[in-house]
Amino acid sequence: MKKKFLSVAFKAARLAGKVLMASYGRLQNFQISMKAKNDFVTEIDKKSEKLIISTIKNYFPDHAIQGEESGVSHGKDILWIIDPLDGTSNYIHNIPIFSVSIGIMKNNIMKAGVIYDPIHQETFWAEKGKGAYLNKKKIRVTKVRPLSEALMATGIPFKARNRFDEYMESFHKISLGSVGIRRGGSAALDLAYVACGRFDGFWELDLSPWDIAAGSLIMEEAGSIVTDMWGKKDHFKNGDILASNGLIHQELCQITSKIFTSSTKDKRCLLN
Ligand code: IPD
Ligand code: CA
Ligand code: CA
Repeated sequence: MKKKFLSVAFKAARLAGKVLMASYGRLQNFQISMKAKNDFVTEIDKKSEKLIISTIKNYFPDHAIQGEESGVSHGKDILWIIDPLDGTSNYIHNIPIFSVSIGIMKNNIMKAGVIYDPIHQETFWAEKGKGAYLNKKKIRVTKVRPLSEALMATGIPFKARNRFDEYMESFHKISLGSVGIRRGGSAALDLAYVACGRFDGFWELDLSPWDIAAGSLIMEEAGSIVTDMWGKKDHFKNGDILASNGLIHQELCQITSKIFTSSTKDKRCLLN
């Protein structure tokens, strides 16, 4: 991967972060609308995405882009996957936990990823095969095991509620089986926090590619295991993500695979 791709991703993320910070805490002046039940979007999400896309197009006019707010624009070779504001509900409520997430994919393989938290000025990033970083420092997942010693993070379903009961069963089991659970409200940051050892594991249902594109690569480069609830590498396809420091993955997968219903109705953890 050419170095330039990453520097453009950094530049786009920083510019978007400036847009987010300029309006943070002043949202009464802006329009907030609902895309679907409990799924909000602000003018700032859209402004941030426009700026990220124009920055990318400036350098790479023929690349494909998938933006949460504007959909897919076709191109060749490289696909940029963008979440211009991950944690919109936090942002609307003046909770300082949100991020910008930019992933770069080639032939369906994540090649680079940047997650920028403008409040704490933390940039989590990785390039395939070259490790993961928080600002200039190399990061690694924790060595914590077993699950009974692990601090977990999660996302609680708030849009589609049809899997809520299954989710609550997983929450119950993992809560009783671990040290505790946090719900931050930015899936991209949850993944980044596992990568740098603040959390030992994370699970959430029904995420979108822009929530996990950058984070999944940063995690893998930091030594994490990322699968779906059944231990398969299908999390991009089905949006169900189970991520951990690797050492507690089998234990987690034994729990989630038995609770959640997969499209194949499999109830086993297929981790190998
Ligand atoms: C949301 C956040 C949240 C997660 C949701 C996502 P958005 O993204 O990542 O933590 O629980 O599933 O949709 O809508 O703020 O970009
Ligand atoms: Ca998101
Ligand atoms: Ca978003």
